[in-house]
Amino acid sequence: MILLDNVSKYYKGEKTPALEEVNLHIQPKEFVFLVGESGAGKSTLIKMLIREEKPTYGNIMVGGIDYRYMKKKHIPHIRRRIGVVFQDFKLLPNRTVYENVAFALEIVGVSNSEIKRTVPKVLELVGLSDKMDKFPGDLSGGQRQRVAIARSMARQPKILIADEPTGNLDPENSDGIIRLLEEINNFGTTILVTTHNAEIVNALKKRVVTLSHGRIIGDQKDGGHYDLDGSRTRITKRSLGGTAPAQPAAAPQPQVVSNTPEAPQPKAPEAKKPKTSSGSAVLEQMRKAKAADEAKPVAKRRKFSR
Ligand SMILES: Nc1ncnc2c1ncn2[C@@H]1O[C@H](COP(=O)(O)OP(=O)(O)OP(=O)(O)O)[C@@H](O)[C@H]1O
Ligand SMILES: [Mg+2]
Repeated sequence: MILLDNVSKYYKGEKTPALEEVNLHIQPKEFVFLVGESGAGKSTLIKMLIREEKPTYGNIMVGGIDYRYMKKKHIPHIRRRIGVVFQDFKLLPNRTVYENVAFALEIVGVSNSEIKRTVPKVLELVGLSDKMDKFPGDLSGGQRQRVAIARSMARQPKILIADEPTGNLDPENSDGIIRLLEEINNFGTTILVTTHNAEIVNALKKRVVTLSHGRIIGDQKDGGHYDLDGSRTRITKRSLGGTAPAQPAAAPQPQVVSNTPEAPQPKAPEAKKPKTSSGSAVLEQMRKAKAADEAKPVAKRRKFSR
C-alpha cells in the first residue's frame, strides 16, 4: 500500500510548492497512471516515494513503513521494495545486459548463485534472453528500457514505479513497454507509471490520477482517461484522498515500523524543512546506501527483509 497523507513539498528556496496537500492511496496490485502537465509534480511525488526527497509537510507510508520514522540506514530496504525505472534508463554502458541486471543484485548483497539463477529469469520475462551478452549501446531504445525494467524487477519489488518509461521511445516500443508493465502487474506487482502518452492511457483504461500545479485534480478509479484539466473527475478538497475509503484524517495511523525499536515516537517531524538531495543517479545512491547498510550488524540489516 502506498499512502500520501496531506503531503506538500517546497523545494529549497522555492515559494510555490511542487506538491500541495496531496492525498493518495494506492492499494497493493493496483496499476495507476500518474499524469499531469510538465512541472505538475509527478517526478517529485516519485522521488518522495523512494526517499530521494522528503515531504515538507505531511506523511508517507509504503508497505506499512512510516517514513517519519525512517532513518538513513532504512533507505536500502525501501529501495528493495520499490523498483524504479526512468526515462533515460540509467544503464551502465560498459557492462553487458546480464551484468547490468546482475549488478543491481550484487550491490544489495545477493549471493552469486542466486544472481546466476535470477538474472536469466528476469531477462526472459522482458524478452531479452538472446541479448544477455550485448552492451546497452548495441540495443534499441525499447530494448534498453526493457533492461532497465529487468534490473528493477530482479529484486522482486512489491512496487514498480516508472517515471516516463516511454518518453524516449517510438509508439511501437512504448506500447511494448506498457504491455510489459501490465504483465508485471498481472504477477501481483503494484505499478505506478507517469506518462505524457494520452493514447496509451486511454487505451489501457486503468486508474488515472491527474496532477496539476502540485495538486491532485482528478482521480478516475478505472477506465480512466488522459484528462489534464481534470474535468472528468474534478476533485474537491473534501474528496481528496484517492481511493481511500475514509477521509484523509482517518487514514491508517502511523504503525510503528516493526524494525525500528529505536524509532522516536510520533512528534510532528513533518514541520521540518528538508534538505534537498543532490539529485545524484539512483545507482550511485544505491551504492552508498549499500555501503551504509553493510556497516550495520547483519541482524539489524535483515530486519526489513521479506
Ligand atoms: N530540485 C528542484 N529544486 C527546485 N525546484 C524543483 C526541483 N525539482 C523540481 N522542481 C520544480 O518542482 C515542480 C515539479 O517538478 P517535477 O519534476 O516534479 O514535474 P513533472 O510533473 O515530473 O514534470 P515533467 O512532466 O516535465 O517531468 C516544477 O515546477 C519544477 O521546476
Ligand atoms: Mg518528471
